Amino acid sequence: MIPDDVIEQVRDAADIVGIIGETVELKRTGTDFRGRCPFHGGTHRNFAVIPKKGMFYCFVCHEAGDIYTFFMKRLGMDYPTAVREVARRVGITIPERTGPTGPDPHEPLFAALATAADWFARQLRENTEAMKYLESRHVTMEQAQVQGLGFAPRGAAFLDAMKGLGLREEVLLEAGLIVKREDGSKIPRFRGRLLFPIHDLRSRIVAFSGRILGEGEPKYLNSPETPVFHKGQLLYNLHVAKHGMRKAERAILVEGQFDVLRLTLAGFEEVVAPLGTGLTEEQAALLQRHTAHVILLYDSDEPGLRATFRAGDVLLRHKLRVSVASLPEGEDPDTLGQNKGAAALEQALKDSVDVLERKIQILERKGFFGSLPGRRRALDRLLPTIRAAADPITRDLYISRVAEVAGIRKDVLQREVDPKEQTLTVPYRPLPSLTVLPSSAEKSLLLLMLAGEPWRARVAEAVDAEEFEFPVYRAVFEALADDAPDRLDETAARAYEALQAEGLGSEQPDLLFERAVNRLEARRLDREIARKQEEIDLAPEKEKARLTVEKQALANERNAKRPTWKIIEHARRKGAPGS
Ligand code: UTP
Ligand code: MN
Repeated sequence: MIPDDVIEQVRDAADIVGIIGETVELKRTGTDFRGRCPFHGGTHRNFAVIPKKGMFYCFVCHEAGDIYTFFMKRLGMDYPTAVREVARRVGITIPERTGPTGPDPHEPLFAALATAADWFARQLRENTEAMKYLESRHVTMEQAQVQGLGFAPRGAAFLDAMKGLGLREEVLLEAGLIVKREDGSKIPRFRGRLLFPIHDLRSRIVAFSGRILGEGEPKYLNSPETPVFHKGQLLYNLHVAKHGMRKAERAILVEGQFDVLRLTLAGFEEVVAPLGTGLTEEQAALLQRHTAHVILLYDSDEPGLRATFRAGDVLLRHKLRVSVASLPEGEDPDTLGQNKGAAALEQALKDSVDVLERKIQILERKGFFGSLPGRRRALDRLLPTIRAAADPITRDLYISRVAEVAGIRKDVLQREVDPKEQTLTVPYRPLPSLTVLPSSAEKSLLLLMLAGEPWRARVAEAVDAEEFEFPVYRAVFEALADDAPDRLDETAARAYEALQAEGLGSEQPDLLFERAVNRLEARRLDREIARKQEEIDLAPEKEKARLTVEKQALANERNAKRPTWKIIEHARRKGAPGS
């Protein structure tokens, strides 16, 4: 028997909207949430979840109950099993009826991490260098303490202290707190760093992120993956933000720990950050359980925008509404909050615009819509975002909007966006394997980027990562575009070094650039022409004429990209021989 008060306690602790929201898409209406009834399979939003009462109710089939009934009815669980399932999710341990069970196997890790966090927090209070650093970042000691920050001193003091507290080396190793050196000796992982504790959804410390004081590499060092820490499956500050998001009806996604700290100090509770990687699908799914709207508040420079749009597409795939907030040049949320305060942050959030709209704004500002080829390229940039939108209404709105700005017919764009119709007739075919060999155009572009500015920025501007067919080169491109070569895996790092060693040589950069960009565009057009031809072959007779016209338009565009023609023309303009 599970005691009644425990049943009550679990019910109170359970987040009914979050849990039901995992399987039923819920939208807020007033203080309740509505969705399609999973019991009678309704198509209208007649199913209500009422968090205040901890109840659900369907206005059509009248199924009703609390969170336990939901599990029993949906998954056929008996009552005690349902209570245990909910208890597990809210982190309440119910003693097993069939004798005592073993403790959580990860308990020693949690204990070690909590002990370490206490010790680090004390070091922060006592270390003048760390105090000075905090001061330089405009964070008071009191604020740092409330947020649980710590400091890992240089040297081996941490290891000695932990051993003194009775913690075993194996546990510290497994928790990612110490590392084994080649000679077998062990040293603390974090040395000379300001530490941000990372909590899981149940507010247990599972990892740390360590900021070097001042300059140095790497700027942030995170705990490694451990049995209790999977960085792609957790968001920084989610344990606090999951409550804040429900109240604010939005999440604010920022790039890093200091941004979260600054927004928290400014009174925002609904703020989270990824953990040193791009936003993952799992992280988007986590957000989707707690909110319907995410505002991206990243740096507004080139790498920041790239990260913004990449994260935006991931979020759109999870049916979230996505807005983008812009920051003044050179500011990040941390510095803006520091310099201008909470009001400026709130203003930036208020001024945020839909992610697609933001993309359009940027393309417009860069003059993409001024010429036909520019429009075509703008479309290529916008298509992935339209395709990412998994919510059918958002998708339709996006298609209308893009058709409008690009000046094309909506049905034409619709066909381009929705491979569904096409895949019915023309199966998607992966690129022939031959094309995964490194292409010289791709390589030229990377060599240019390695030559530094302005070429790095010009290439990053002109092509998209998706246009790189050779995966290793694509990785190198992304790293260069984001100015983050340390993110490369081993294979890509080797390619990077090889390219660096090769250098541009005597090639004329502007000629090389033009040729390579043309080549990539030609390649894309070739693929589209081939696809169009397949479509023509399979289309009913009455469609063929129209498709053929479309194919001819592509072919004309393709002809304009004939490399010889371009080069000759270029040479002529330069007054080179051959004119
Ligand atoms: P930034 O380099 O933009 O740092 O990286 P920042 O947030 O402005 O940091 P401060 O203000 O200089 O301290 C953004 C985020 O990417 C992760 C961190 O989470 C960081 O906050 N990151 C960055 C790493 O994980 N490792 C790094 O080496 C650098
Ligand atoms: Mn910063």
